[in-house]
Amino acid sequence: MRAYFDHNATTPIEPEVLDAMLPYLRHEFGNASSIHTPGQRARAAVERARAQVAALIAALPEEIIFTSGGTESDNLAILGAVRANRSSRRHIITTAIEHHAVLHPCRALGQESFDITYLPVDQHGFVTADSLRTALRPDTLLVSIMHANNETGAIQPISELAAFAHEAGALFHTDAVQSAGKISCDVHALGVDLLSLSAHKFYGPKGVGALFLKTGVALKPLLHGGHNFGEPRPGTENVAGIVGLGAAAHFATKHMQNDAVQIRALRDQIESSMLAEFSREICLPNFPLLHEAQSDGARMPNTTNFSFQGVDGEAMVIALDLAGFSCSTGSACSSGTVEPSHVLLALGRSPQMARGGLRISLGRHNTNAEVDSLVRVLIDVVRRLRALSPDAVESVR
Ligand SMILES: Cc1ncc(COP(=O)(O)O)c(C=O)c1O
Repeated sequence: MRAYFDHNATTPIEPEVLDAMLPYLRHEFGNASSIHTPGQRARAAVERARAQVAALIAALPEEIIFTSGGTESDNLAILGAVRANRSSRRHIITTAIEHHAVLHPCRALGQESFDITYLPVDQHGFVTADSLRTALRPDTLLVSIMHANNETGAIQPISELAAFAHEAGALFHTDAVQSAGKISCDVHALGVDLLSLSAHKFYGPKGVGALFLKTGVALKPLLHGGHNFGEPRPGTENVAGIVGLGAAAHFATKHMQNDAVQIRALRDQIESSMLAEFSREICLPNFPLLHEAQSDGARMPNTTNFSFQGVDGEAMVIALDLAGFSCSTGSACSSGTVEPSHVLLALGRSPQMARGGLRISLGRHNTNAEVDSLVRVLIDVVRRLRALSPDAVESVR
């Protein structure tokens, strides 16, 4: 048996999405910029997809820019908005828990003499309105705060945060790569100027995404070329990929609500089993612990994350993989050393616990039987690895 629990890394393509794409990899090969019939058919497919993506986030079709994925959308949003709106404003605010697709362009701007503020998060992984209010300055140009965190699943109060940013005259971008297609991401309700999303996180193909750019917001392109100078994203369109993104957006519009109910129940089953088995000093939840009434809107239905005392996250991922389960750790392996997750460190976890994070991210094809087996195997893996660990402390239970 092989069971996949790493849907925040990527998801399988839905058959309906693949079927929509295949003609554009076979006979419908026109260039969407050509004026002849095959070109017009490709253009029509791209525009249909644009409308489907717009519908997913309640935007206008002309507010959708296709990109090569979440990383490009984040870079285009941050670098493009800052460069187009250069003024006396030299300050950018983001958070300590962003994906590197946001942190690295911000760092690059820091090297170009912009001032960058990294907001902290509370112990549940939330950015507080107070910390943003305190950080905002008269020269703040852009605030970029992610919608849902890829490691903890914490959902930030974006509409409230965006309202504060706007009061200060700043633009607001949100990285919705982990939320779009899984929960409602209505750009009006969120009140954002820019929003990034990526097809492969919601049952679409890899290497294609979109940036929502609110009407009237200026953006400088990162790439140059194409028919019209200054096009936001020039180059021949990835027609099959864009069609796949559109089909995935359409599929999500139909299914995400029901899927979330089913997926949340499976996630809760994992969490209650692990917390019943181990004491809190052995098994530390890295997801927001909230009252039931609050939790639905503040956590992704599909993401759970634990650190296990005395156990290395990577060792757990490898042991689970050998047993047929694909999970992940937030830690990035670089030059032979496993760095603790910057997200878990920001939550206040010790470096040891931040290296021990195990992320389980569920999807629409996971079953009760898979979850039962995962829990059984995970309990066994944690016990075995702790028995071998010189750092393992005794449970007080
Ligand atoms: C929150 C977040 N932002 C951005 C990205 C990058 O997206 P892509 O893989 O499409 O470049 C990811 C991917 O893991 C992500 O989780």
